[in-house]
Amino acid sequence: MTAIGCDQGGFALKQEILKYLEQEKIPYKDFGSYDTASVDYPLIAEKVARAVASGEYENGILICGTGIGVSIAANKIKGIRAALCSDCFSAEATRQHNNANILCMGGRVLGTGLAVKITDTFLKTPFSGVDRHQRRIDEISALENGTADNQRQ
Ligand code: RB5
Repeated sequence: MTAIGCDQGGFALKQEILKYLEQEKIPYKDFGSYDTASVDYPLIAEKVARAVASGEYENGILICGTGIGVSIAANKIKGIRAALCSDCFSAEATRQHNNANILCMGGRVLGTGLAVKITDTFLKTPFSGVDRHQRRIDEISALENGTADNQRQ
């Protein structure tokens, strides 16, 4: 199940991504916003990020004007690895290498066709499971938990 959210800068693109999710029969919950009224993107990012971090949702999609604000906000939630992607190579690599659990995109940056392709790539690419990538993700978790061994390396 995918959690999705946006602010006014991402609303139009979110509508297109919802069409894609419907077409692909990918189950989702839309956490808003539901129109183009101004909303503070950290509030929407928090809702989606907490939904994913809780384990109730497998992954998330966040869209604001640039994708930057929602990615910064979502990454403040423990357990979230939110990746801002503007190309398919990055969308694939961040799933394979970082096991990213939230895709962030910029509604004022991307055209619909590319954004849909990026979303499709992100949702359909599994984590590689390779040891060195898992080790690095564990190192990110250690940073988050304040248990990182800064002397290592
Ligand atoms: C809203 O105007 C805009 O700041 C927001 O959508 C986003 O781009 C922030 O990073």
